[in-house]
Amino acid sequence: MPASLPLILRDRLEHETISMDEYRRTGGYEGLRELLNHEAPENIKKTVLDSGLQGRGGAGFPAGKKWQLLPDDAPHPRYIVANTDEMEPGTFKDRLLLSVNPHTVIEGMIIAGYANSAQKGYFFIRPSYQQVALKFEKALSEARAAGFLGQKILGSDFYFEIVVHRSAGRYICGEAKGLIHALQGERPHPNIEGHLTEQGLWGRPTIVNNAETLAWVPHIVRNGASWFRDLGKHDKAPGNKIYSVCGRVRRPGVFELPFGTPLGEIIEEHAGGMLPGYEFKACLPGGASTRYLTKEFFHVAMDFDSMAKIGTGHRLGTGALMVFDHTCCLVAITLNLIQFFSRESCGWCTPCREGIPYMESLLSAIERGEGGADFPARLQEMCRHMRNAYCAFALGAAAPVEGLIEDFEDEVKAHITLKKCPLEHDDPNQWPLAPMPGIEDLETGNERYPSCPV
Ligand SMILES: Cc1cc2nc3c(=O)[nH]c(=O)nc-3n(C[C@H](O)[C@H](O)[C@H](O)COP(=O)(O)O)c2cc1C
Ligand code: SF4
Repeated sequence: MPASLPLILRDRLEHETISMDEYRRTGGYEGLRELLNHEAPENIKKTVLDSGLQGRGGAGFPAGKKWQLLPDDAPHPRYIVANTDEMEPGTFKDRLLLSVNPHTVIEGMIIAGYANSAQKGYFFIRPSYQQVALKFEKALSEARAAGFLGQKILGSDFYFEIVVHRSAGRYICGEAKGLIHALQGERPHPNIEGHLTEQGLWGRPTIVNNAETLAWVPHIVRNGASWFRDLGKHDKAPGNKIYSVCGRVRRPGVFELPFGTPLGEIIEEHAGGMLPGYEFKACLPGGASTRYLTKEFFHVAMDFDSMAKIGTGHRLGTGALMVFDHTCCLVAITLNLIQFFSRESCGWCTPCREGIPYMESLLSAIERGEGGADFPARLQEMCRHMRNAYCAFALGAAAPVEGLIEDFEDEVKAHITLKKCPLEHDDPNQWPLAPMPGIEDLETGNERYPSCPV
């Protein structure tokens, strides 16, 4: 029987957090006693592996495979990190998830801890998500009071604690290895060689998973691997996925849908289509570090596999859709994103540290009407240099630039030949790359899953 939607978000407003009682009433923490006392950790790892759960933090690495990378005889202590840094422009799915359902992430961390024989979990959260952090801390005390955390949990030999760590507030702190340095109180360069599952936090085995990835774990363990697989639209897209949509659409917000839901369905049905008077021009499918897609890709399934098949540089990322309408200048939008990447580069390696500010200066000149005919080629060359950078940050920065130059060549050339932006617009930094806080659902009048704080 198909499961009714949504499962981890449960249809509700952002400020309506699922209480401990409600979470338990709907099966939450239910099997934990049995699991911690009678289930072998390797069986849980196997179930998660069989479920095909792919990491929801952007790269799509199978969670079960990551857990298998942690050797059985690895030393202790071991750590689980729930990554809720979420500093990518236009991305706000984890904020909503944690605001609505903190207990599913806590239970996911406990089960991940037990499966990997870890003793401590870190909940790593963006500092501007203070309200979410407070909700999570409240949920943690409830879980502790109910005996789900601490020593000898539910009469078993398992002990596990979760600590909340507010990030220092840089985008690179969300990159798994940068995050490890950040947690250790060091500069968040991502320069750690090898797998974190062997040498992570303080040199100990560490699993870093996105918060949404961990949120699925209790449901998989409770309902089984094939139940989870069947939720998705096809066999390479197991489970449900939280997508978010921002821009000038009728219902900007966060939607839990079967993984692999087509791009057009998300924009036109779930987000309600464009606001009256605005035409769809392009979108970024998964945050700032993905490549523009036009309407001709509306049929494509929003999952890791289908997006990668579109071609080089295309990827799903976080599934955080940013929609741009006909009044948006994509040169200005891309400049806005590159300004972010330029500011956030950690500076560890030369291509990124030097190359991104140079790309910013080229794009800025084009937008001001001062670009030379060779600027698009120079930008393409710089995008190629990003492949030599140390971490995925630089490739992500190159993705919208490559898309702009290759797929919107006419718009870029028009800026250069007309010596001005062909679209009359105000300051692009003021444009709604994300919905404004408090934006209303046009149909119900409710404030629904609004806002991205970027
Ligand atoms: C610059 C940069 C920022 C990232 N920020 C986040 C983040 O905020 N949250 C997240 O879960 N993953 C982020 N990632 C991906 C992480 O490195 C890592 O792949 C992820 O946390 C692993 O979890 P998953 O396998 O469950 O997706 C980022 C990656 C890069 C390159
Ligand atoms: S690519 Fe950028 S963010 Fe990554 S290590 Fe190099 S300088 Fe730092």
